[in-house]
Amino acid sequence: VVRKTLDELGFLELETPFLIRSTPEGARDYVVPSRVNHGSFFALPQSPQLFKQLFMVSGFDRYFQIVRCFRDEDLRAERQPEFTQVDVEMSFCSEEDVQGIMEQVVARVWKELKGLTLTPPFQRISYDEAISRFGVDAPDLRYGLELKDLTELVKTSELKVFQDALARQGVVKAINLSGVGELSRKDLDELGEFVKIYGAKGLAWVRMKEDRSWQAPIAKFFSAELQASLNQRLEMQPGDVAVFVADKPQVVHAALGNLRKHVARQRGLLPKDTFRFCWVTDFPLFEWDEENRRLNSAHHPFTSTRFSDRNKLKDDPLAVKASAYDLVLNGVEVGGGSIRIHDSVLQSEVFSTLGITEEQAQEKFGFLLSALQYGAPPHGGIALGVDRLMMLLCGTDSIRDVIAFPKTQKQLDLMLNAPAPLDAAQLAELAIRTVTD
Ligand code: AMO
Ligand code: AMP
Repeated sequence: VVRKTLDELGFLELETPFLIRSTPEGARDYVVPSRVNHGSFFALPQSPQLFKQLFMVSGFDRYFQIVRCFRDEDLRAERQPEFTQVDVEMSFCSEEDVQGIMEQVVARVWKELKGLTLTPPFQRISYDEAISRFGVDAPDLRYGLELKDLTELVKTSELKVFQDALARQGVVKAINLSGVGELSRKDLDELGEFVKIYGAKGLAWVRMKEDRSWQAPIAKFFSAELQASLNQRLEMQPGDVAVFVADKPQVVHAALGNLRKHVARQRGLLPKDTFRFCWVTDFPLFEWDEENRRLNSAHHPFTSTRFSDRNKLKDDPLAVKASAYDLVLNGVEVGGGSIRIHDSVLQSEVFSTLGITEEQAQEKFGFLLSALQYGAPPHGGIALGVDRLMMLLCGTDSIRDVIAFPKTQKQLDLMLNAPAPLDAAQLAELAIRTVTD
């Protein structure tokens, strides 16, 4: 169905090589040693990103490919080391053009496979709004339980854990768990343990009594007036329970965002055969990597800045917004793309912000930089994750259910017993010596 739709829309199906050099998509590469050039290695593509951009420069203005990609990363329910993308690129397009094409593709798939009529355009939510309301950048819109910011309101509370967080520029947010059913003390203790996975130090909770005052160990730290204004902000009704986390914004969002998903799953709030698509837009261009104390691309380094943000690259890179968008379905990122940089000067500026020197850029991506100098058309694209779409279409929780011969969590193929050591002759031919320690 995808092939038919894209063909009708004038996209040309083109193949790209698997034995290539590293493409930066944020994961590690799988590498293939060269027998003919000892000591050199191919990398398997994490995506055909650079090739499709070169197609645009060379005049193929609508490309697609249904293509296998390879990424060495920690596996999860919706991640496998090899997976399939519907990879798309087009010239002279806006973000909305790319999104519109993908909406047509997805709507046709749902019509023909499920008999369901989707109604594009899908809802658009900015990254900032998604984080603020849902705690995560891939919000599940099938249920409420939104995060409410109480940072300003709780300034007068005497609860020490709130005061400490506020003193350290932290935030306080809460979710009213109305509608999830009975919550015993034990249930709340379990949720308190759950948020610790995401770095929260605890989970405060309150239950509203018939007289609208609070029944909770922490109630005494909140004046009657403050309880009333928090009740109003959280839309509390008698019997409702609200849970609070106070910490750095990243911790609060991760803790409550994941708690929201956890409770919805655990309490059966996920309707069957309901498909809520949305586009998440206005992503930041960079992320701060605390471990290595450097900036990384949030999408990939070929993503364009929002035009008006270009002049912030030098002085305030974390404030720069990208022309990047994700397609999200029921809380799962099923696609991601961007408008690309088509100007070699801007591309160099972005590399330099990422700490990639002129020489490194030439060495790794010289072919792209020189192609851009010949006058590249403005272009952009996206890739959909086929395995994730199939998982959701089939109503399962893991892409392993929709892949023949998947790998385990530890990246093993238990049938083939792969990966496996090579015999001595093969290693010698490749001029490779292995070390086991
Ligand atoms: P991105 O890295 O966002 O973008 O990948 C696109 C989509 O591919 C799927 N996906 C995966 N599915 C299963 N297992 C994995 N390990 C895995 N990794 C990614 C997701 C994701 O949304 N070149 C860019 C696209 C572009 O800019 O046009 C890219 O690969 O559904
Ligand atoms: P304590 O003062 O440590 O006994 O904590 C009081 C309540 O606040 C307990 O229910 C804790 O789980 C909870 N709590 C502790 N730290 C935090 C935090 N950072 N955010 C929200 N609640 C917290």
